[in-house]
Amino acid sequence: MSTFKILLTSQKGGVGKSTISANLAAYFRRQGEAVTLIDFDTHGSSSTWLSRAPNIGVVVQHKILPLDQGGNRPILDARLHLRRAASSSDIVICDLTWTDSIAGELMFEFDMVIVPTSVSEIELAATSGFLSRHRWVFDSAIHTSPTLLVCPTRVQQEQMNNNAFSKQRFPVSFMLSPPVLEAQTARDMFERGYLMDLQDACGASFNEFGKAVCAARDMRVAELAMKKTAHASMLNTPRAATKMSPAPTARNNLLATSSTLSNQYSILGRHRLHKTRPEEKVTTDKPSTIANAQQSRAPSTSSLGIPQFLKRITLGSMNH
Ligand SMILES: Nc1ncnc2c1ncn2[C@@H]1O[C@H](COP(=O)(O)OP(=O)(O)OP(=O)(O)O)[C@@H](O)[C@H]1O
Ligand SMILES: [Mg+2]
Repeated sequence: MSTFKILLTSQKGGVGKSTISANLAAYFRRQGEAVTLIDFDTHGSSSTWLSRAPNIGVVVQHKILPLDQGGNRPILDARLHLRRAASSSDIVICDLTWTDSIAGELMFEFDMVIVPTSVSEIELAATSGFLSRHRWVFDSAIHTSPTLLVCPTRVQQEQMNNNAFSKQRFPVSFMLSPPVLEAQTARDMFERGYLMDLQDACGASFNEFGKAVCAARDMRVAELAMKKTAHASMLNTPRAATKMSPAPTARNNLLATSSTLSNQYSILGRHRLHKTRPEEKVTTDKPSTIANAQQSRAPSTSSLGIPQFLKRITLGSMNH
């Protein structure tokens, strides 16, 4: 499998980018993956965390991108760092505070972009604005867009019921991950250990988040493999056969594999299937809030080992 590259970014400060970057790197490492964390932030919080906490085997780099130079230079630098790191890693995680001077093309270097956001209305509006400005990246018909995963961070227990995501209109489709809870214990772990080892609700929430990222990664890898197979068999399909059949073999293969995935990934798969076969009526199944998701998903999904909250938010599904 080729190296999976994850960018953790947002324009907002203090939302938990570095905390999540460092701890997600540690989480993947513990799953047995070779992981490199590249800290692109001047503060160096995520690299400091991993360098000073008990060594878990993550390769840590602190690189400053020449953002003031504009043009393609920051992207070329980032690409170089990514390529070097990828040669010896299964997973590369980058921590970056986004600024307006960064060209959106940078996101195409990644398989997944994780945007942490707090769930207050003002922060969600800012997150929506950020996604809106980069909508073309996630909707691109030319490039392979990165998977977009929005992660509610520093969430307090009382915010779990506030329907935050249903009040805000989002300009793009995205995956919504389980929330990472706010806790003093998370702050105390800085340079001392890892959120996944916390024996409290915050630790449990982080582990759910980690599972969700792994599931989203598996989905993307499977989806790209399907597309590749479909493309290859389309090329191999004789012209005459293609003319005779209104539904080409490749498409049938794609749909068949989609169904298998659908069974495997339940909620996620259903959304995928819906996307692949828009002409079909799929049962209305669009909980859009953290609270709804928790209530309606918990029994069936947790028994299947599927992260409770990971779901696809599509355009228009927030308007009810
Ligand atoms: N789940 C959490 N619970 C409690 N505090 C948290 C949590 N996540 C992050 N914090 C705290 O919030 C502050 C900001 O976190 P962090 O540095 O990870 O955010 P950031 O988005 O990387 O910030 P910056 O924009 O400054 O780089 C830190 O003090 C951190 O300890
Ligand atoms: Mg940071």
